[in-house]
Amino acid sequence: MGGAKVLMLVLLIGWEKSLSLNWNPIPRKTVRYHEVLDSMARFRALGVWNYTMVTLAEHERVLYVGAREVLFALDPNDISRQLRPLIEWPAPQENKRACSAKGKNNQTECFNYIRFLQSYNHTHLYTCGTYAFQPKCTYINADHFSLNPGSLEDGKGKCPYDPAKGHTGLIVDKELYSATLNNFLGTEPVILRNLGQQHYSMKSEYLPAWLNEPDFVGSALVRESSGSKEGDDDKIYFFFSERAVELDCDTELIVARVARVCKGDLGGTRTLQKKWTTFQKARLVCSLPERHVTFNNLREVFTLPGTDWRTTTFYGIFHAQWGDVDVSAVCQYQIGEVKKVFDGPYKEYREGSQRWGRYTGTVPSPRPGACITSWHRGENGYNSSLQLPDATLNFAKKHPLMEEKAQARPLLLTKGINFTRLAVDRVSSLDQRAYNMLFIGTADGWLQRVVILGSEAHVIEEIQLFDSPQPVDSLTISHTKKYLYIGSRSKVLQLPLANCSRYQSQPDCLLSRDPYCAWDSEGRACVRIDLHRGSTSSLSQDLMLERFSRGKAKFDKPVAIPSPDHSRLRNVTVVVESDMVLPCQLVSNLAQPSWVLNDRELQLGDEEAGGPRFDQALKALVVPNAMPVHAGRYVCYSEEQGVKFQMQRYRCRWWQALLWSWRPGPLTAAWVCSGC
Ligand SMILES: *[C@@H]1O[C@H](CO)[C@@H](O)[C@H](O)[C@H]1NC(C)=O
Ligand SMILES: *[C@@H]1O[C@H](CO)[C@@H](O)[C@H](O)[C@H]1NC(C)=O
Ligand SMILES: *[C@@H]1O[C@H](CO)[C@@H](O)[C@H](O)[C@H]1NC(C)=O
Ligand SMILES: *[C@@H]1O[C@H](CO)[C@@H](O)[C@H](O)[C@H]1NC(C)=O
Ligand SMILES: *[C@@H]1O[C@H](CO)[C@@H](O)[C@H](O)[C@H]1NC(C)=O
Ligand SMILES: *[C@@H]1O[C@H](CO)[C@@H](O)[C@H](O)[C@H]1NC(C)=O
Ligand SMILES: *[C@@H]1O[C@H](CO)[C@@H](O)[C@H](O)[C@H]1NC(C)=O
Repeated sequence: MGGAKVLMLVLLIGWEKSLSLNWNPIPRKTVRYHEVLDSMARFRALGVWNYTMVTLAEHERVLYVGAREVLFALDPNDISRQLRPLIEWPAPQENKRACSAKGKNNQTECFNYIRFLQSYNHTHLYTCGTYAFQPKCTYINADHFSLNPGSLEDGKGKCPYDPAKGHTGLIVDKELYSATLNNFLGTEPVILRNLGQQHYSMKSEYLPAWLNEPDFVGSALVRESSGSKEGDDDKIYFFFSERAVELDCDTELIVARVARVCKGDLGGTRTLQKKWTTFQKARLVCSLPERHVTFNNLREVFTLPGTDWRTTTFYGIFHAQWGDVDVSAVCQYQIGEVKKVFDGPYKEYREGSQRWGRYTGTVPSPRPGACITSWHRGENGYNSSLQLPDATLNFAKKHPLMEEKAQARPLLLTKGINFTRLAVDRVSSLDQRAYNMLFIGTADGWLQRVVILGSEAHVIEEIQLFDSPQPVDSLTISHTKKYLYIGSRSKVLQLPLANCSRYQSQPDCLLSRDPYCAWDSEGRACVRIDLHRGSTSSLSQDLMLERFSRGKAKFDKPVAIPSPDHSRLRNVTVVVESDMVLPCQLVSNLAQPSWVLNDRELQLGDEEAGGPRFDQALKALVVPNAMPVHAGRYVCYSEEQGVKFQMQRYRCRWWQALLWSWRPGPLTAAWVCSGC
């Protein structure tokens, strides 16, 4: 154990030096809670917790929120406003008693936690709750915002029993697809379809080769029938981590998976009756192969639809622990790469060697696991999966796992932070190019805004969302209202997708590389492009920092930026021969400080050199053993990409004032530095 830890650390140190990707990127700005407090609408109700489900519906006119035993309908323009009286949906006392009698905690577990909430049709929503470990589902009339207590349906397979367990669900054409744990003990995983009148309910086979202690994190519909020459079917993708069956060297190993089923699947007639005939799964790999590092623990997936289904992108959050260090990574997968894996070779369990390996024998026709297409329907006469031959179905049942993996390299790798949730917006920049913008929530309640620029991830800022740390439990983007809604244990928050007015000068606006923001040379302000009225000719943006990298930034004169409140000038008094400390707030975390004393650049050294230095923790110039030669005019500059911002100024005078120290002793002289 100890040896492994040391090796881990050596590896870690090795990487930080050699990684080409942006390892542990520093957010350019850090925005504290008190700085966003006033501009953030909030919603919380007295005595209500766990605002986990946050769903936009009715063309983004209502924000529905599912919490513990309560549902809300909020105004997405200002979530502090409720559009309708709340719905109380508690688990009955007898359920709670039974739940606690079975050994569950009546303070934390035996409640009705809402775990599913989506639009069903124009007039109704569908919702499911854990109902004190006896899951139930029901319709909600959206107009009245009421549920009919008489119409409760069994929630088995549609909602987990345990509120802490992973779950995902999706309503597609009035049918519910869900991936969950199907029993009280949480030992029976299932991927299920029901609700519809069109089809009867469908299930996954209860076999370890299909699902092996999975932790479900996400699902997505991809309309692959659209514009398909082959008459392909729509598919539902599921994402999870599970215990690997195929890695015999270490049976404890968890792997990340993508699985899919075809929407038109009706099961087989004899084999796989009412079971998926199209269930296939593959390993999702997020790794740095040259470093033998793989992230296996998938925590979250966000699906970014493209203009066409072929440009669909999946973004995954992965966790790993290297020694004592928590590492989070974000990997991105194109739908084409995932499809290729499902069209490739199968894996097979070989009874003889008791190992999984590539299947090399002949594959029955029609191809097992494939959707019914025009090829099937045409000359071959297979109108639905019900008509598929047993050879195909038996093979499909035994070979759910594909040989190839969907591979990606991390876009972003961060240590010491657990990412929990992710949402992605596609932003049109000033030059009409589209950039992907990642909003990443963390376990300690921060939001990172990250723009993907080519293969590089640039962290624009980190925003502290709460006064006390708590995980970000959900992120929902409104594209029409341009807000991000954040669900958490204690409240729901509403944040604009960007706040360009935080950038107070032209260089700061350009250096932010925020694709939503541009500098308006007429209004002399950093503005949101999407909210800007009139001509864009006065706007400028520089996401690739082209005008900076050419070394001829147009801002060769130091730019005096207005002093924000927190850097108001202060007088500092220092006793001779003690340390003189002059604070200087830099424009960003990526800036370097420089100081000028009496019009000459001050040479800054490190702590050992003993001379003046900039202390990163204090964010201040420290002059140890200050002497009268250190008197004069100090100016602090914040330098980033060759641009110098003039920050604080101090005048430090040598005062011959004699002061009594608080205890009897020699008289000392004092420094007085006054801001000017
Ligand atoms: C943007 O940030 C500024 C400065 O922190 C703040 O005053 C303003 O209210 C914010 N605007 C919005 C729309 O959040
Ligand atoms: C619900 O919120 C409470 C209070 O913050 C927290 O302790 C608990 O872990 C949450 N439960 C779930 C299932 O999120
Ligand atoms: C929870 O259970 C304990 C004993 O198991 C009981 O004393 C307590 O009253 C219960 N609390 C509630 C709120 O039901
Ligand atoms: C929506 O579904 C509900 C529940 O099945 C049903 O009662 C209602 O009539 C449906 N509404 C429409 C417009 O089809
Ligand atoms: C397949 O469907 C077509 C029309 O939809 C029908 O004419 C044909 O008989 C069906 N074939 C089988 C084998 O069921
Ligand atoms: C990250 O999550 C792991 C387990 O999921 C936990 O042990 C660890 O304390 C978390 N770390 C941070 C920094 O939140
Ligand atoms: C700093 O000192 C000057 C006099 O040197 C005084 O006028 C000013 O009020 C002081 N400022 C603060 C913030 O104490």
